[in-house]
Amino acid sequence: MSDFNGDFWSVYVAGLTLVSIVACLLLLWITARKKVAADADNTTGHVWDGDLREMNNPMPRWWVWLFVGTIIFSLLYLVAYPGLGSYQGTLGWSTAGNYQKEMERARQQLEPLYAQFTARKPEELAGDVHAMGIGERLFMNNCAQCHGSDARGSKGFPNLADKDWLWGGSPDKIAETLHQGRTGAMPPMGAAVGGADDVKNVAHYVLSLSKAPHDSLRAQLGKSRFTACAACHGMDGKGNTALGAPNLTDDVWLHGWGEQAIINIINNGRTNHMPAQQKLLTPEQIHVLSAYVWGLSNKPECVREAMSPGPFAPRDRP
Ligand code: HEC
Ligand code: HEC
Repeated sequence: MSDFNGDFWSVYVAGLTLVSIVACLLLLWITARKKVAADADNTTGHVWDGDLREMNNPMPRWWVWLFVGTIIFSLLYLVAYPGLGSYQGTLGWSTAGNYQKEMERARQQLEPLYAQFTARKPEELAGDVHAMGIGERLFMNNCAQCHGSDARGSKGFPNLADKDWLWGGSPDKIAETLHQGRTGAMPPMGAAVGGADDVKNVAHYVLSLSKAPHDSLRAQLGKSRFTACAACHGMDGKGNTALGAPNLTDDVWLHGWGEQAIINIINNGRTNHMPAQQKLLTPEQIHVLSAYVWGLSNKPECVREAMSPGPFAPRDRP
């Protein structure tokens, strides 16, 4: 495969390469033929620093043949390997192919290892120190950049080490999240709720759901407007894992807590995306990772044991 978006650049690059090689040959030929007029003592007559003079000897044979050798080598190389524009070379070698081969070799080596994991249920695997060591490394390499090395997330990135789940916390649901990714979409709801005051009232009602400090009069006024939210967050505000709508009655806040944060999200909405992993990881790796993530909140003892030698052991939770 080539990255050129047309034939022109391919031909241009190939042409430039060949012209440069021919130019090298010409240079050699011309310099070998051209005789510089020399003085009787075979010097060019140039003198530096008092007595430093330039001899007028032909280039050494061995050097000339080495030069010719490199040119022949480069031509043979360009026939065998990709080097001339998008020409593939007769050997069919490519860095992408090399990578594929390496991946395939690694997959074959790891197959028996993962086979013993996939044969077991995630709940059981979460107790296996070996499997969880692998799970931890997979997590550090593929997930920690977003969810944190302790898996506790940050603003916008959910904590995976607690019992609060947007999309469901069973091993199956976690695996589903990893395979296909998730997109949590909260539409802007300001207009549906009413004016700015109505939005503020609903925000206070939302605060009251988790018994956070709020204005109870506003909360009461806002309650009737919450019907606009119930389709996703439920009448009781406890959320809906089929839609990834968070539970608003607990004290876990993905996008920040407080009146202003809630007003913002009602007015502006929010789309949050967890990228699908099925093209990046094998099903076997996802199986181990699902067990690992499930284990973070369900069997802390064995997961912590598995993690203990690493520098990233999760902080003890109260
Ligand atoms: C580019 C950032 C990013 C990466 C990389 C990433 N995630 Fe996520 N993940 C997110 C976001 C954002 C969400 C929240 C989606 C939402 O709001 O619905 C999420 C959600 C999740 C959920 C669902 C949480 C819940 O409460 O239901 C799980 C489980 C999860 N991620 C695990 C992983 C694992 C395991 C990996 C590594 C293979 C990973 N994520 C890699 C950004 C990321
Ligand atoms: C179409 C479904 C839908 C509707 C309707 C909806 N929400 Fe949401 N809401 C969501 C989703 C999905 C998220 C999570 C976004 C994400 O994944 O980051 C969310 C997030 C939130 C959050 C942030 C929670 C947190 O933990 O930070 C608040 C607050 C919220 N919604 C309040 C409301 C209120 C109030 C209404 C009604 C005015 C409402 N939502 C209507 C789907 C909806």
